[in-house]
Parts: sequence; C-alpha cells; structure tokens
Amino acid sequence: MCGIVAYVGDKPCRQHIFDGLLRLEYRGYDSAGFVCVDNKSKRFCCHKEAGMVDIVKKMSETVTCDGSIGMGHTRWATHGIVNQVNAHPHFNCSRTIAVVHNGIIEGFEKIRASLIKEGHEFCSSTDSEVAAHLFSTLLEKNKSISSAVIALTQKLDGAYALIYMLESHPDKLIVIRRKSPMVIGVGNNEMFVASDFLAFSDKTNQIIFVPDDSFAIVTKDNVAIYDFQGNLLNVKIDTINATYATVDKQNFEHFMIKEIYEQKHAIMRTINFFNTIGSMVSTDNLNESNKKNPLITHAENNLSLWRQLGVTADQISTLKTINLVAAGTSWHAARIAQFFFEMIAKIPTHVYLASEFRYMPLFVNKDSLFIMLSQSGETADTLEALRLVNSLDMQTIAITNVPSSSIVREASGFLPMQAGPEISVAATKTFTSQVASLYWLANRMAYERGMINLDQLKIAQDDLFIAAEILETTLETNKLRITQELAPYYAKFDKFIFLSRHINYPFALEAALKLKEVSYIFAQCYPAGELKHGPIALVDEHTPVVIFSVLDELIYNKLVSNAHEVKTRRGHVIAFAFEGQTELIDAADVAFIIPRVNPLLAPIAMSGIMQFFVYQMARELDRPPDKPRNLAKSVTVE
Ligand code: AGP
Repeated sequence: MCGIVAYVGDKPCRQHIFDGLLRLEYRGYDSAGFVCVDNKSKRFCCHKEAGMVDIVKKMSETVTCDGSIGMGHTRWATHGIVNQVNAHPHFNCSRTIAVVHNGIIEGFEKIRASLIKEGHEFCSSTDSEVAAHLFSTLLEKNKSISSAVIALTQKLDGAYALIYMLESHPDKLIVIRRKSPMVIGVGNNEMFVASDFLAFSDKTNQIIFVPDDSFAIVTKDNVAIYDFQGNLLNVKIDTINATYATVDKQNFEHFMIKEIYEQKHAIMRTINFFNTIGSMVSTDNLNESNKKNPLITHAENNLSLWRQLGVTADQISTLKTINLVAAGTSWHAARIAQFFFEMIAKIPTHVYLASEFRYMPLFVNKDSLFIMLSQSGETADTLEALRLVNSLDMQTIAITNVPSSSIVREASGFLPMQAGPEISVAATKTFTSQVASLYWLANRMAYERGMINLDQLKIAQDDLFIAAEILETTLETNKLRITQELAPYYAKFDKFIFLSRHINYPFALEAALKLKEVSYIFAQCYPAGELKHGPIALVDEHTPVVIFSVLDELIYNKLVSNAHEVKTRRGHVIAFAFEGQTELIDAADVAFIIPRVNPLLAPIAMSGIMQFFVYQMARELDRPPDKPRNLAKSVTVE
C-alpha cells in the first residue's frame, strides 16, 4: 500500500501535495517523495527521502521549487528496502517521465530483465520503477498517450494505481487504476487526484471514483476516462461531504493510549447510533401512538435496519449461514462474533481469513449472508473477497469505521461504526467497537428470528454497556500497578505464551498480536487445551504464560488445570480472572481481577487492561506504539 496525491491547476501545487501526504500517512510511512514541473526551469524538480512526517515537514521548509502540476507519494515498502533510492517517484532513463505507484506489479522481474537487455538502467530495486521505463518505450512505439497506456495495461499484471507526469506534457496527469483505489477531485480550473479523497477534502467535495480497470487523462479543466480498450466512459461526479478532521493527541503521550481510553464512549456511540438507524429511516411513517410503543418501534426499527443492510426480514428469518470475512484484528473480532451468531441467533457461522478466502472452494448459497469486517474499509484482501462474493450474486454487508471506504461502496448494505478516527496503527477502540457491533447485530437477528424477546434484547444492550464500563474501570484500577511494577518487569522477557479457551481464545490471539505489533516481543497463542499436544515443551521460567479466563464453569475448571500444568513446569502465570475465580487467582503469579459480566462479553471487559499492559511494555522498550516498524494503518496490497 502507499498513498498518492497529485495536482494540476492554476495554483502552485507544492503545499497542497505536502499537506495531502501528511493526511495519507496511514497508508505507509517508510518514505516520502515529491515531484513537480518547476515553473521556472520547466523541468522536473524532485525530492524524496526515507522517513515520513519529519521528512515531509522538512521538505515543506526546504524545497523551493514549485509548479502548477505535481505529485507526491508515501510508501509502504513491498519490493526493495526502505531507503532514498527506493522512494517514489521513479523515472525513466532520461528522467522525462515520472511515476508514482500504489500496489504490486506482479511478475515485474521478467519485464525488468528484458528492459535491461534493451539498455535501460535501473536505479532502484522496486517493482514500480519498471512502470517508468516500460512506459517510456511504449510512448516511443505508440502514436498517442492513450494507446501507450492501453499497451502498458496489457503488459502489467497485479494491482496498481499509477500516476504519470511527462515533462513534455506539463498540463496532464495520466492516472491508471487496476484494483488499487484512485479518486479525482473536480475543482475550479484545478483537479486533485489521490488514493483517498481525504487528501483533498478541504479543496472540493466533487469526486470522481476512477472505475476499476480504467485510466484518466486529467488536465486542469477536463477529465477524460477510458476503459482499458480505449472506450470513453461516462463516469458521474459524486458529492461527498465527509471532511478530514485533524485529530490531536490532546494530553495523551500517544494516540494508542488516547484510543484505549476512548473505548467506552466509542462502544456507546456506536450502539446508540445503530439504534437510531431504524428510527432515522422509518418512524416518520408511524403514527404518534405507535412511536411511543416500544414494541412497534423496535419491530419497525428492525425492518429499517434490514433495509439499510440490503436484506429483507424474511431473509434474516430464513438465513442458513453467516460468513464473516476479515483480516488481522478484525478477524479476531469476527472469531469472537462467531459465538454470538451461533449461540444467540442460532445461525451456523463460518469465519474466513480474507487473505485465504479467494483460494478456497466457495459454494454459492442464496440463504447465506457475508459480513465483511474491516476497520478501514480499504483492506485489499477483504475488498477482493467482497468482489468475489459480489460476482456470485450473494448478499454482502460491510461493517467498517470509515463510511466513505471502498468496502462500503461495494457491499450491498453496511453498518457504520462510530468509533471515531483511529490513528494508532494498533487497533484498539475499533476492535471493541466491532465486537460490540456484532453482538448487537446477533441480538437483533435473534429477535427477528424469534429466539429472544424484547426484554432480552434490552438486557443484551445493557450488558454491552456494563462491559464497556468495566473495560474502563478495571483499566483505571490497574493502571498504576501496570505502569510502575508489571510493565517494567515483563518488558525484560523476550517471548510470551498466550492461552485461553472458547470465546476468549480469539481474544488471546488478539492480545498476542497486539504485543507483537507494538513491543516486537515474540508471542505465541494457543487454545489452552492444545498446550499438552506440543507447545508445553516451550514452558520454562523464562517464558511468561498469560491465561485469559472465561465465565463458563466447566471451561474455567479446564483452564485452572492448564494453569497448574504450567506451574508444575516452573512456568510463570499471569492470569486475567473474574471475581471469585480463586483457584486461578491462587495458581497465578500475577492476577488481574475483573468484575463479572455477561460471559459472551468477557473480551470487551478484558480489553482495557490487556491493551494498557501491552502499551506500557512498548513504552518500556522505547517502541513507537502509534507507528510500529514495518506496518501501516491501512493494508491496501494483497
Ligand atoms: C491491528 O492492530 C492491525 N493493525 C491489523 O491487523 C488490522 O487489524 C488488519 O490489517 C485489518 O485491517 P482492517 O480492519 O482495516 O481491515
């Protein structure tokens, strides 16, 4: 993934490009680059360097060249190490063609080898540089820019959003899109292009979403879009009113800790918003007395909810399976939600890793519903899975935190979470909001299917709010102990084992991911019952074992036995236990004690302490929790 921002118009482009790059930092922060056709020299002026925010800020102070056409790039490295040479833009041999690229050009090695044979000299180890050299040969061989672009698309495989600038045509941006997103903002005598319209949302709300497999020739007063056969396309201009909000850390040291603290409100805001979906759409049609009747309002809300989700009440009642597709933390939330849909709504549920989904057999079933879960709504693996399901004409719902995202645009219906912008790369408040959203949805489905009554529906919602409250209060009560005593001690270990069972096993997976992500400490997670089948060989006094308890008596007792198995091998146990679970608390070396909640909401109740513990370990080790090495907030490559 990477972020691209470009401008052509009658104003200087430099500051806009730098501002846009900072807004796209979530797409990658390995390096940043800028190129414009300099107004004075009429030649390309390029600056690029490894690094991101500091580099862009430095460039905006030191770069003096400017022009009315230019583009910038923020990189998440896929091919070629993170350094200045591999930063975009890339150029052809004569440096008359500049290109920025988001995506991966598959099989680029062969093209590169044949271009080298023809005499091209490459500077970088990226796949992207191939696009610059190849286009220069195609421009020589073809009569027009358009025919060169068409020839290019026939030679390039993979996913790419490309923008070319030609020194010989300083009035044109050549924009090409296959799979990777690209949007054009239409201004007054100026056009903006970017991977995400937030890069220019303060300049225009008139947006063209460049269709997949198409290219655009963009000048300051015209956009012409063609398919890859060269046919002119009639693409409509949308009006989008979302704006980019600069989010600051307030008084917190990092976004991650700010977002950990925002969770209770993020959950409550999301659930309260979901509850209004029905009334927003439908209560106007109800008479006053019906509006006051909670039963009718709820039933009517449900109908409107299904409409918003692009399904009918009948479909919900007769649903045979639910499929949840997601990646990373969202996949962990989906694995937790499998218990909700199966135990509350009694709907058999399958959970798929988005990156594996497309390569597995897929059985078309019209009584099946697909829920694509993604914080960003831009994850390429999840988006491609959605496209596959859509192509088979099956029902899809998106649950994301970004209502303007690609996944929302392409799914049949969607539920927009209200967690607020999440800046830290490590998902925290969006994870618990996802779990809460899916719990709420499972209960709404259960109600529609006659599995629970209105009182139970209300209790379910109260339970959610109680779990959100406990998330926050337990964090508060354990804060000092973690900061002063536990994090400094445990940050010295270089590997951890995480164990749990049932609904808290996917939560343990999430805890292990979070520890790896922000502290770079190795963590391995197992369902506790698997310990004896091999991983117990890893247990010793140098490997703390974190055990997350559950509120099912039978499963809890098994976990207690697992804790003893660890202890008898000189292992060290950190337990996340519920009040009254004395056997586990006594067996552990360190225990966090959490008030009892609805057993299915244990992952929410435990999230606050878990995330805070991991965050403090990252701090102890001097890691940058908001921007861990090698990662990006939005993973837009497969
Ligand atoms: C979470 O901490 C990670 N940054 C990552 O696993 C993330 O959850 C994953 O890339 C999926 O992202 P999405 O929810 O935006 O689709």
